[in-house]
Amino acid sequence: GKGEYDHFMLKEIHEQPTSLAQAIEGRIDPENGRIALDGFEPGAFEEIDSVQLIACGTSYHAALYGSLALNQAGVESTALLANEYSVAAPPVDEDTLVIAVTQSGETADTLNALRQAKSEGADTLTVTNVVGSTAAREADDALFIRAGPEIGVAATKTFSSQAVMLTLLAQRIADDAAGEPAADLEALLPDLAAMPEQIEGILADSDAEWIASRYQDSRSYFFIGRGLGYPVALEGALKFKEITYEHAEGFASGELKHGPLALVTPETPVFAVFTGEEDEKTLKNAEEAQTRGAPVVAVCPDDHRAVEVADAHLEIPETDPDLAGLLANVQLQLVSYYAADLLDRPIDKPRNLAKSVTVE
Ligand code: M6R
Repeated sequence: GKGEYDHFMLKEIHEQPTSLAQAIEGRIDPENGRIALDGFEPGAFEEIDSVQLIACGTSYHAALYGSLALNQAGVESTALLANEYSVAAPPVDEDTLVIAVTQSGETADTLNALRQAKSEGADTLTVTNVVGSTAAREADDALFIRAGPEIGVAATKTFSSQAVMLTLLAQRIADDAAGEPAADLEALLPDLAAMPEQIEGILADSDAEWIASRYQDSRSYFFIGRGLGYPVALEGALKFKEITYEHAEGFASGELKHGPLALVTPETPVFAVFTGEEDEKTLKNAEEAQTRGAPVVAVCPDDHRAVEVADAHLEIPETDPDLAGLLANVQLQLVSYYAADLLDRPIDKPRNLAKSVTVE
C-alpha cells in the first residue's frame, strides 16, 4: 500500500535513499575499489569498442545519462530512442555492446530494438528492474537495478537507479577498455556512498512545494541543463507534463538561444540544473531568459553563484558532477508532484498513459 503517503509516486520518491543503496550494494569491490558486477569477470568488456543504449521515455533519459557518462569516460557511445531504432540504427558488429534500458523489461519498442541489434550480431545487455522479464530473458546478459516494484505510472526511483547503475557500468567499461582503474572512480566513490543520505536531506527539507505553488499559474515550464544536467532537464520536463498536464519542455542550456528563447516570457519559469559542468555558461543562458522576464529557479548548492542571480532556489548538496544531476532530479520530481497535487490530478494514473507500453 501507499502507507503514510497520499500517492505511490510520493512514496516512491521517498524510497530513493533505500533503492539507490540497493543498486550500489556489493557492486564496489572493497579490496580494490573497482566496479564488481555479477556475471562479469574482470576484463569482460575489454573487447567492446562502442556502446549503443536503447530505450524509451524516462528510461531513454537514463540511457542518455549513461551514454554521456561513457563518453566522458572516453568510451564511444550513443543513446538512441528504441522506437527510432528500426529506421535509424547505426551499424553494429560483435564489438558493439547494445544496452536495452527498460524498467519493466516489457516495452515493445525496446524489445524490438533489442531483437534487431541481436540479430545483427551485437553483444546485448539489459539494465532492467524486473527479474524474469522478456528483456532479461532475451538479452545476452542482464543487470538488475533492484529498485523494487514501482506502481506510479511516472517513473521516479527507477530513473535514479538506472542512472546510477549506468554510471557504475560506464566506469567499469572504461576500466576494462583501459586495463586499469579509471582515475575518476576514486573521486566518485565517496560521493556515491553519500548519495542515499544526501537524498534523505533533500526530502526532509525541500522548498519544492512552495516553488510549485509560487509558479502554478504559468503558461509553460522550461527545464535546462548542460552535460549530465541535460538528460535531467529532459526528465524534469517529461515528469512535469505527464502528471500536471501542463506544457513543459527540456532543453540543453545552450540551445535556448537557438529557438526556444522566442517562447520565453514572464509566464514561463525556467528551472536551471547546475551540475558543475561549465555552470557559468548555463548561468549565462538562464540570465538570457531572465532578461526576457522569465523567473529562474536555480537547482544547485547553497553557495553557488547562481543563487544570487536566480529568482528562486532549490538546494542540492555538494557532490561529484557525475551525480549532481541526480540530486537535482529529486528536487524536480517533487516540484512536479506538488504542482500536479495542487491541480488535483490523478497523479499515479495520468490520463492516456500505461505503466508498461507493450504495443509498438
Ligand atoms: O518499462 P520501460 O522503462 O521500458 O518504460 C519506458 C517508458 O514507457 C517509461 O519510462 C515512461 O516514459 C515513464 N513511465 C514516464 O514516467
